[in-house]
Amino acid sequence: MIKVDLSGAAPFFDAAGPDYAAAAAAHRLLEEKSGPGAEFTGWTELPMRMKKGELKPILAAAAKIRSRSKALVVVGIGGSYLGARGAIELLRPLPGKDDPKVFFVGNGLSADYLNCVIEQLGDDDFDVNVISKSGTTLEPAVSFRVFRTMLEKKYGAAAKRHIFATTDVSRGVLRSMANAEGWECFTVPGDVGGRYSVLSAVGLLPMAVAGIDVAAVIDQAIATFGSLYRRSPDNPVWQYAAARQHLYGRGYSIELLASYEPSFRFMAEWWKQLYGESEGKNGIGIFPASLEYTADLHSMGQYVQDGPRKLYETVVSFEKSLTSFAVPFGMGDPDGLNYLAGRDLHDICRTARDAVKAAHISGGVPNIGVSVDKRDEAGYAELVCFFELACAISGYMSGVNPFDQPGVEAYKKNMFALLGKPGYEDMGQALREKLDGVEPREKYRLRCYNGDFSYILLEKKKKVDGLCRKT
Ligand code: PA5
Repeated sequence: MIKVDLSGAAPFFDAAGPDYAAAAAAHRLLEEKSGPGAEFTGWTELPMRMKKGELKPILAAAAKIRSRSKALVVVGIGGSYLGARGAIELLRPLPGKDDPKVFFVGNGLSADYLNCVIEQLGDDDFDVNVISKSGTTLEPAVSFRVFRTMLEKKYGAAAKRHIFATTDVSRGVLRSMANAEGWECFTVPGDVGGRYSVLSAVGLLPMAVAGIDVAAVIDQAIATFGSLYRRSPDNPVWQYAAARQHLYGRGYSIELLASYEPSFRFMAEWWKQLYGESEGKNGIGIFPASLEYTADLHSMGQYVQDGPRKLYETVVSFEKSLTSFAVPFGMGDPDGLNYLAGRDLHDICRTARDAVKAAHISGGVPNIGVSVDKRDEAGYAELVCFFELACAISGYMSGVNPFDQPGVEAYKKNMFALLGKPGYEDMGQALREKLDGVEPREKYRLRCYNGDFSYILLEKKKKVDGLCRKT
């Protein structure tokens, strides 16, 4: 059962403390589907939908891929990628002997990275799972073209049997292409936003191919959503959501999500998108950042301990380790480590965690603890349900719509305009002028004075021309 420990945050609360009445009101909005963005709250029902039959074709596709291929190339970005990557790195950080390798592409525009994946694929048999709700996102679209072409060269007419498209049920280019080509399709539900979609085919197909027991994930998710819906201040979701909003109100505007498990790194990336995209709007929002302990204590520890006091940390722990490792005894104790000989590394790690917590609290950093039993399917499902629910409730508490992302469109439009996508010509011209000279080019000209370049208004040109010299 997931637990929240506020003992390290309580010293930083004011007398009133976290506002559980506000958490209750926010929870009601979510449950009754009466808050902003209610049409995108289908994620709360995903585990039940999976249980009622949607999981079956996902498992069948995963079994097919696992039986014939050495690798799966997952093409997607943002909410269409981070959930699966977080789960796979957490639960299967290294592929097992019989597990296909899972490569993630389409999450950037690096030629070097793409070439590296192609090189690692070599001549191995592989399948592609392209995931895009809109079907128009540039990064995955470019990568998909590359890997689709590779499949066609490798398998000829049979290539289409190696492509699995996860996209909107009826809209978008990817859906049209899939229908035309006869690729096997899975749906990104229309009532679920990308960052809340990990318990749909978006996350579950790559996870199942990697060897994760997704049926166990779904069973635990059903149980966890059930238990986290209780209306009470002892609900860990209320505790976390209310504590973070309370701390934000007291000036703690940056949340550091930390874990002592290196395999948690991409779960933290998933969490950053979930919270950043849900809460950072209308000029407000806690900034979500992440650190990996203990490694980052040796690089960022100084800042956390002693920098500006705007940080609080949320530390995710797995109470039991899956394996053990005792520190060996050293004859003669040359390195002075025999005081630890025989002690289990996990036990040492827990002690380090307590020490860090005490140090950070004394340095003025509130500490929230979130813990699950083990780094397994059940623990993973608990974390996903907990963070999703808390995000929705925390977002409603802060007064935003936690299910839209209007700010994400700005860069996409600019990129299309500058790359010359048909339909964006006027915007492209205006943007180039803005980037070249802040204002339309005709009004300004570049000048240099004593080697410094700057823009001047053309009306003033005559006056300053005499001052220009070549450098
Ligand atoms: O959460 C979101 O909406 C975004 O991160 C999207 O998931 C991301 O931009 C990818 O979009 P799409 O799935 O349409 O390709």
